[in-house]
Amino acid sequence: MSIQTVATTPFEGQKPGTSGLRKKVGVFQQAHYLENFVQSIFDALGGIAGKTLVVGGDGRYHNRAAVQTILQMAAANGAAKVIVGQGGILSTPAASCVIRKYGTFGGIILSASHNPGGPDGDFGIKYNTDNGGPAPEKITDAIYERSTRITEYKTLEAPLYDIDTLGGGTIGSSQVAVIDPVADYAELMQQLFDFDAIRAWFAAGHTMQFDALSAVSGPYARRVIETLLGAPAGTVVNGEPLEDFGGHHPDPNPAHATELIACMNGADAPDFGAASDGDADRNMIVGRNLVVTPSDSLAIIAANAQLVPGYARGLAGVARSMPTSCAVDRVAAKLGIACYETPTGWKFFGNLLDAGRATLCGEESYGTGSDHVREKDGVWAVLFWLNLLAATGKSVNELVNAHWAEYGRNFYSRHDYEALETEPANGLLQALRDKVATLAGTKLAGKTVQLADDFAYDDPVDGSHSGKQGIRIVFEDGSRIVYRLSGTGTEGATLRVYMERYEADPALHGLETQTALAELIAIAGDLADISGRTGRSAPTVVT
Ligand code: G1P
Ligand code: ZN
Repeated sequence: MSIQTVATTPFEGQKPGTSGLRKKVGVFQQAHYLENFVQSIFDALGGIAGKTLVVGGDGRYHNRAAVQTILQMAAANGAAKVIVGQGGILSTPAASCVIRKYGTFGGIILSASHNPGGPDGDFGIKYNTDNGGPAPEKITDAIYERSTRITEYKTLEAPLYDIDTLGGGTIGSSQVAVIDPVADYAELMQQLFDFDAIRAWFAAGHTMQFDALSAVSGPYARRVIETLLGAPAGTVVNGEPLEDFGGHHPDPNPAHATELIACMNGADAPDFGAASDGDADRNMIVGRNLVVTPSDSLAIIAANAQLVPGYARGLAGVARSMPTSCAVDRVAAKLGIACYETPTGWKFFGNLLDAGRATLCGEESYGTGSDHVREKDGVWAVLFWLNLLAATGKSVNELVNAHWAEYGRNFYSRHDYEALETEPANGLLQALRDKVATLAGTKLAGKTVQLADDFAYDDPVDGSHSGKQGIRIVFEDGSRIVYRLSGTGTEGATLRVYMERYEADPALHGLETQTALAELIAIAGDLADISGRTGRSAPTVVT
């Protein structure tokens, strides 16, 4: 085995987005492409000689090949040890858990999250630091900067490492540990939740369907929900991670998890439904004929956290991304705790969690989590709900309705316009940016604008500034429209439009969401001239 120094030239566009570098598989398969990025990570970190790294991914197509490349490069760059999930598998929250538990220098996660997989699908890679969380912008910027100037990378000419057999070994002069990808995570879950109560809930005959969408949550859900909590075999469906996710679009929302929605709307629906995404950091919570809006799920979790052993001590604070509904703000106000509003992307929660300012965090994009790791966590959210169902004896619908009755309902929806041409999409955002300075105090369709800006965030912990994080229009009655472009897509541009309206009157809480938001949807379309600028008469996905 010899260390090779390979000459290379930079690739354009290796700039990490909302959550790492995501591209089509074919882009990653180009000679040197992945190697350039991995070496840029190592270089931006000041080298990895003598350090321990965690490596794993969601099992999608190209995962195994990429793990081998990273093992060889880590060895050539002098890593002391690499901890790899068996088969190259580690869900994103499990990778975070392993980095924290073993105190490693950091980890490389291979995933394109909820984007489709397979040879024609997407692949992705991101670096997480020693707190277990996604690298902050100053590191991702440094990685990108390095990728624009790279001239060589180091790799080890070595046979493929056996990543399927548990145990220790070496590659070059680095140690390798192939670990059970589920064990550490399952142990952490048992420290947080009342497993006895949930076991009793299942034993009493309650039923559940967990749809893993043929992605990486399958092994985690099976071990925890079926093996440890005693739910009958078959509770987890599509539980085998497949390289192409069996053709599923592994995004747990009503538009993509259609099998689960049909089941939960059926005559003999189970008591509880849930789904998770490609890398198991997202979750969707479903009751009979009811999809719980992620923003509501965060609020309900926060409001009832005292029922869950790991959170019974109380919450230090909560945080939500700016486009996420303000439902959790009302809970925070009642609890007398801080509520932080951050830009989109989990990396912005890291400092708040590390500083002990926030205990729970959430995003409207089906992401919920806490200070137990530094990623959002799909299976964790499902266990939180199971714990609430078991502790209260109530159904999902009863918990949601009781919450709305107490706090009011924040009607909420996101409209995505996917695969737009980049230029008109940028033009649409720019035109809004030009408009916002003069909107406050004016009326749109009879509603007075209270605030209009391009959201910027000053991190209260390290003072870092992040600008241009989305256009928000807030009306006097508290309703809001937010526009931003996706930072995770791989095809053209995706425009996301978020709408929210608060309704205190319980008599109106049963309204259908799109109906309740009709006025705001119309204003959002007119203000940005969405159809004129994009040529689209309707969004691609409504959640
Ligand atoms: C999307 C979501 C965002 C989430 C990210 C990673 O990013 O909107 O909340 O953190 O995926 O899961 P976007 O494509 O909007 O930049
Ligand atoms: Zn994900």
